[in-house]
Amino acid sequence: MSILQISGGQPLQGSIPVQGAKNSVLPLLAATLVCQGQTVLKNCPALHDVEVTLQILRHLGCRVERSGSTIAVDASQVLRSDIPDDLMHEMRSSVIFMGAILARTGQAELSYPGGCELGPRPIDLHLKALRTMGAEVLERDGRIHCRAGSLSGCEIRFPFPSVGATENAMLAALGCGEEIAIYGAAREPEIVDLQNLLRSMGAQVSGAGTDKIVITGGKPLHEAVYTVISDRIAAATWLAGAAATGGSVEVTGICPGHIRAVLDVYAASGCRIKTGETAVLLTAPERLRAAGLIRTAPSPAFPTDAQAPVTASFLRALGQTQFEETIFENRYRHVPELRKLGARIELDDRLAYVQGVEALHGAELCSTDLRGGAALVLAALSAEGESTVSGLHHIDRGYERIEAALASLGGAIKRLDIS
Ligand code: EPZ
Repeated sequence: MSILQISGGQPLQGSIPVQGAKNSVLPLLAATLVCQGQTVLKNCPALHDVEVTLQILRHLGCRVERSGSTIAVDASQVLRSDIPDDLMHEMRSSVIFMGAILARTGQAELSYPGGCELGPRPIDLHLKALRTMGAEVLERDGRIHCRAGSLSGCEIRFPFPSVGATENAMLAALGCGEEIAIYGAAREPEIVDLQNLLRSMGAQVSGAGTDKIVITGGKPLHEAVYTVISDRIAAATWLAGAAATGGSVEVTGICPGHIRAVLDVYAASGCRIKTGETAVLLTAPERLRAAGLIRTAPSPAFPTDAQAPVTASFLRALGQTQFEETIFENRYRHVPELRKLGARIELDDRLAYVQGVEALHGAELCSTDLRGGAALVLAALSAEGESTVSGLHHIDRGYERIEAALASLGGAIKRLDIS
């Protein structure tokens, strides 16, 4: 087991390239199943969840090769259409394979992804989309059995812009030779990335980034080489580190438009923001002004995944910042850990009231989930004194060696093996 040892109090300074997007590379890897040839994805991050996804692709019969951040998937021989329970439970977002397996093989069998640290993670919208297309979806003994039969053109209407359900509907629609329109689609940048990959494979898909996406599938897709977008949440995390420590950090290889809502919060809180075409420089005051209300919502609003890291940067702000988490039920599990550093945070259901304090002190912290864990690391870097953070398996799911990234910005942080 390893822990992070952190000595807080120094401002983070410097420039850092942003890793490939976890929440884009996972659906893009699923999409490689639909091409009966080789797809090459560049800028893939080295993350636990990506490794699990590669195991699933190999289980299904694909040949997968990784060289640095480039992954080549040869899906010429897809021999299976099931995902084993152990891999499903290793990573709940494996549900994203359902649509792609169905489009490629005409059937799919997988277990329920189960909940996670953020609360129950239902997939009713995913299943509703497949049934609307005409797929037969049986739920039996905790497993889902899908049969495509003959999918037909239709209109899918999402009451909530679910990212995963939108991605599953797009991928399943590739198995249907008639037009499928998705209304109420998620508008996240990762949806646009998926559309761009599919188009590069010859698919007929349009509208991603708006709430209406139209796809006509049913034809073979050809080989492609595609570069995954950069991780907007990792970028937001490094900038939150600058804001938390009164530092100045530039993130490079990022699309500033992908983090506009986060940048707007920091600009209103006294930070100087300079944006280039593919870079953002944030210079923070010693203490931020409180930000008022920060409400998470589907893109293009403030992203739920940035809530915890951004909270860390307001622990020493002048005044009170309120967070309203509208996406997940249980996304404040990092708060009791932040209080160990001296943070003053009151919770009321979906609301968190963060009263800025003069200074924080070191503590022993334990990560509760991926983004909450990142928040603990940033907060410890802004505290005076020594801290440790355990539960790194949560953090390693979404950040490539978080300690190396932050140390490259001058953070006094290292990973110790204590097993
Ligand atoms: C994706 O999860 C991301 N994960 C999450 O990032 C992100 O927080 C989320 O989108 C929202 O942006 C990946 O892309 C791998 P949703 P997803 O379907 O697809 C409810 C991180 O930290 N819902 O948009 O699961 C659901 O319960 C992770 O990187 C239904 O009710 O998110 C939740 O309350 C965390 N029925 C809300 O919608 C459904 O069928 C958002 O879920 C599906 C979802």
